[in-house]
Amino acid sequence: MDFKRSEALFARANDLVAGGVSSQIRRGEKPVPLFFVRGKGGKLWDVDGNEYVDYVQGMGPNIFGHAPDFIVDAVARDMRNGFVFAGQFEKELEVAEMVRGMVPLKGPVRFASSGTEIDQLVLRLARGFTGRPKYVKFEGHYHGWTDTVLYSVHPPLDRAGPAHAPVPVGESKGMAPGSADDVVIAPWNDLATLTKIFERERGQIAGVIMEPILANTNCILPRPGYLEGVKALCEKHGALLIFDEVITGFRVAAGGAQEMLGVTPDLATYAKSMAGGFPIAMLLGRPDVMSMVGDGSVYHGGSFNSNVMSIAAAHASLSHIASDPTRFYRDLTNRGRRLMEGLQGAARRAESDLLVQGVGSVFATSFSSRDEIHDYREHARYCDDGRYRRFAELMLENGVRLATNGRWHVASSHTDADIEKTVAAAEKSLRAL
Ligand SMILES: Cc1ncc(COP(=O)(O)O)c(C=O)c1O
Repeated sequence: MDFKRSEALFARANDLVAGGVSSQIRRGEKPVPLFFVRGKGGKLWDVDGNEYVDYVQGMGPNIFGHAPDFIVDAVARDMRNGFVFAGQFEKELEVAEMVRGMVPLKGPVRFASSGTEIDQLVLRLARGFTGRPKYVKFEGHYHGWTDTVLYSVHPPLDRAGPAHAPVPVGESKGMAPGSADDVVIAPWNDLATLTKIFERERGQIAGVIMEPILANTNCILPRPGYLEGVKALCEKHGALLIFDEVITGFRVAAGGAQEMLGVTPDLATYAKSMAGGFPIAMLLGRPDVMSMVGDGSVYHGGSFNSNVMSIAAAHASLSHIASDPTRFYRDLTNRGRRLMEGLQGAARRAESDLLVQGVGSVFATSFSSRDEIHDYREHARYCDDGRYRRFAELMLENGVRLATNGRWHVASSHTDADIEKTVAAAEKSLRAL
């Protein structure tokens, strides 16, 4: 397999686009950040004519795979009548009604265009509603790239402070220095430490935000009782529980992680899988809290919010799922589980320490001496990220494209043949590794 045209385009891109890419994570693709010409279903084709089974799937949005016909048709039909109205249209309400039918948390929604902005809004709302300055964020969780939240996503352990009293580590230069003052960093999956933090910060914490399934680090599930425990602590201390369902929403179940795990938060944010690959985000919350967004006392705006194309795509996606949600998620999850088992089998045959962890429709692979990873620090200590990146490069050469951060997104259009090809590629790559 050669990547000559991608290499030439990337050399040109480095002059024209900062770093050659428009989102930093893309720069990590090896041997070179690729240029693509087409994606359809589970497959992707690059400018050199190479074909891949794709598990990046746009980093999650493409839950049906690339360019599903029913979404292309719905968007093409609606966009003939206009793109952005800066006004309302009935389809928005139909999307909100479908959401109400699917997600356990019931209340009004607000639409936006990206996970980053909607996470910014939810934290502003938590502060506005409670009148408190701080919020709890967990190590290893990602909530977008704003100054408010870009702390301790994957911090070096020598700068992260003690395990039971982590300190915020900014992930970028140029972040507002004062933004660290209001972030309280906690270890996830550790109720005892969170209890102490709430006591220490008495009356200061507006909300606790988390990925209810930690998809951004090893795809870790909460320990039994953990989410219930966090919810009880929030209630006791008058803080809001916020689930960032940007990855899990409309992916792990129609009602997201809150349906799968049986714990309903006060507020929840959505984006990626909601519109089959089109840019959309959504805040959903308790009516009394959301009323502050409604009356404008917590400000939110955006030119592209609820644009015609994104709403048409969300409407088509949710209608498709809602026609038979049980079957849709059973098939998607089973497909993912078969792939996870296939990879575990490949690892056994190749005598590799590949660890496969997650929930089927989304999971992670890493190289670890451990059988299971429970939080960010275990990942940082016991997983070899360099080896994973080399594995991803070998997989690419064997026709399978993986994300650089270890997360796999299964699409409903991945076929049995795609899975077989992937497992064979994994065995070959693991042996080579
Ligand atoms: C859990 C989570 N929240 C928020 C975001 C930010 O979303 P976006 O990239 O759409 O700004 C991401 C992106 O990967 C995410 O994984």
